[in-house]
Amino acid sequence: MRTALITGASRGLGRALAVTLSSSGWRVVVDARSASDLHAAAEGWPHAVVVPGDVTDEIHLRDLVDAAGGHLDLLVLNASSLGQTPLPPLAEYGADALRAVLETNTVAPLRLVQLVLPALRAARGRILSISSDAAVAGYPGWGGYGASKAALDQLLNVLGAEEPDLRVHAVDPGDMRTRMHAEAFPGEDISDRPEPEEVVPALRRLIDGNHPSGRYTAAELAGVPA
Ligand SMILES: NC(=O)c1ccc[n+]([C@@H]2O[C@H](COP(=O)([O-])OP(=O)(O)OC[C@H]3O[C@@H](n4cnc5c(N)ncnc54)[C@H](OP(=O)(O)O)[C@@H]3O)[C@@H](O)[C@H]2O)c1
Repeated sequence: MRTALITGASRGLGRALAVTLSSSGWRVVVDARSASDLHAAAEGWPHAVVVPGDVTDEIHLRDLVDAAGGHLDLLVLNASSLGQTPLPPLAEYGADALRAVLETNTVAPLRLVQLVLPALRAARGRILSISSDAAVAGYPGWGGYGASKAALDQLLNVLGAEEPDLRVHAVDPGDMRTRMHAEAFPGEDISDRPEPEEVVPALRRLIDGNHPSGRYTAAELAGVPA
């Protein structure tokens, strides 16, 4: 049975990815900080292994990897933090807040990659890292989060070159109607943004297809003209 480890699977895009993989026969090993939310989300997923915890906690990461049981076909780096909110201009960005967003969005994903590399190499597996347009665009207020995503993109860009037998993909999913998006735009009506489930078919093209390692956007994978 193919196994995927998905971080941040209790809601939003991580949950939508866990649902689609689970319903197509994958075993999914999932985390999120809130144990109750994660258990509620995973109810009814066949072959789900639920490991609540924070990706910045090394012991939790080791528990996650142990739960995968030595076999892993796919690692989805999805759990992420917006950083300081309301999103401040860089002139006011706290150093501790910047360290925290880098810890969650950049350092922890690399640490998890390091821990699962032997299993991924054995399976000639894949990494799918959820990036953002904020990694490349200069949106005011998005400097901390954007820098953390840009740094993660580059770590994976290099990893793809260092590990030619793996598929290492970063993907910008585009705007989605999730809690993170609502927190980024407090008080705004975000009902015109697509549900994360609408992005999943584009991501499945990376998971199931033969795209070379690299960075993609969900829009281009879906065939939407730039
Ligand atoms: N929504 C958008 O418009 C948008 C656009 C571009 C990129 N993205 C990216 O898409 C991905 C999914 O975002 P989303 O919008 O689906 O977010 P979301 O709805 O807020 O879901 C985030 C998930 O990650 C978990 N999580 C957060 N911090 C964690 C931590 N430190 N350790 C473990 N789990 C953690 C959350 O559960 P707990 O809170 O219980 O931990 C939750 O399950 C993220 O990488 C985000 O940066 C989103």
